Amino acid sequence: MGQSLLIDERFADAGLARRDGALLLGGIALADIARTVGTPVYVYNADAIRDRYRALDEALAGVRHRLCYAVKANSTLAVLRILRDLGAGADIVSGGEMARALAAGFAPDRIVFSGVGKTDAELRQAVRARLGHLNVESLEELERLAAIAEDERADVAVGIRVNPDVTTDTHPYISTGKGGLKFGVPMDQVPGAAELIARHPRLRLTTLAMHLGSQLSDTAPFRQGIGRLLELARRLEAGGHRLDVLDIGGGLGIRYGREPGMDPARFAAEIVPLLAPTGYTVYLEPGRFLVGSAGVLLTEVLYRKHSGGKEFVVVDAGMNDLVRPSHYQAYHEIVALDDRDRGTVRADVVGPVCETGDFLALDREVPDVSAGDGLAVLGAGAYGFVMASNYNSRPRPAEVVVDGGRWWLARSRETVEALFAGERTEAE
Ligand code: LLP
Repeated sequence: MGQSLLIDERFADAGLARRDGALLLGGIALADIARTVGTPVYVYNADAIRDRYRALDEALAGVRHRLCYAVKANSTLAVLRILRDLGAGADIVSGGEMARALAAGFAPDRIVFSGVGKTDAELRQAVRARLGHLNVESLEELERLAAIAEDERADVAVGIRVNPDVTTDTHPYISTGKGGLKFGVPMDQVPGAAELIARHPRLRLTTLAMHLGSQLSDTAPFRQGIGRLLELARRLEAGGHRLDVLDIGGGLGIRYGREPGMDPARFAAEIVPLLAPTGYTVYLEPGRFLVGSAGVLLTEVLYRKHSGGKEFVVVDAGMNDLVRPSHYQAYHEIVALDDRDRGTVRADVVGPVCETGDFLALDREVPDVSAGDGLAVLGAGAYGFVMASNYNSRPRPAEVVVDGGRWWLARSRETVEALFAGERTEAE
């Protein structure tokens, strides 16, 4: 059974390979990183991120565009820096992400701020920073922004995030463009919002925006959503408004298991003909597509156990480190760091957290590993570390970047002391 689970073409994007059974990422043996840094640890391949960025950027050459990386997918400074150096803009959803994007060196005018619940403090922070534009998601938010712009005596570029009422085929928790969900301004309220902006001396409408959902591999919802944005744009332009940007959001899917993912050429072939004739600059907000495949989570097997007629592989990474399997029933391929002469076993791969919902895989054919062996959880570059928590007082993992045949520690493992550093046991 030598190669129990193959590094097949699905993971070619990631820069994963095997040499004499050892799993390599960007040419580096992952077992070496696990041994040196300890586990659990996230490892990202910088070249894989660059390849994905360039593939999408080149596919869209037929239309003036900007890729605003969705910082939420992976906001580690080293990852942000890779994307900034490629010329990406940034899409942020909080004051914290704004601070990170600025710290990583993104120019403020290349940052766009989305999000359904921006606080006054965040709006003020954005107005002061002179961001590229803010996507407002409700009429009340627009009024709040108008008051802050006046107060700050600052001119603000505004986008309206439209809810285009488009159905997508993805997990319900990450579908965002359908009517009746909390996101965006309903289409019938958009002209009114545009009027409010036009009448305000400090606000300028530059953008119509949408975001349909995440992990999409079908282009049809994009075509439908773009059609609706363009219909609205025509109405607004006819009413005397002038727009510069169409922001079509993120959501391009990747291959975790058997699903096709979004092919950049196919995506571009479908959407560029709709957009290029309009003359608008097109913004995309891809997160997962750029960083998802480029990252793996390394974990060590703690125990094997047989119980209730089932096999269990107990590992040192839990739902606090990677919540996607538990929270979205997400599939992540799991492969051995050293695959020499190993068979497979049908097992649940479970973490140490005290919940039955703490698992990385259920009833899955996985490498027949034993205590001390290393495993890699693939496709963990997006919504991995950023969703990690301290549940069970577990420090968050370390992060490593592999680049140009070398690797370096991009974030130290969190310490236990840091977890309760801000706490008091008594009134002061
Ligand atoms: N723009 C906006 C306004 C968004 O809300 C999102 C993602 C994106 C862009 C980037 O979407 P992407 O290209 O990464 O699909 N934690 C979930 C995914 C949540 C996505 C939320 N919004 C998961 O692990 O699947």
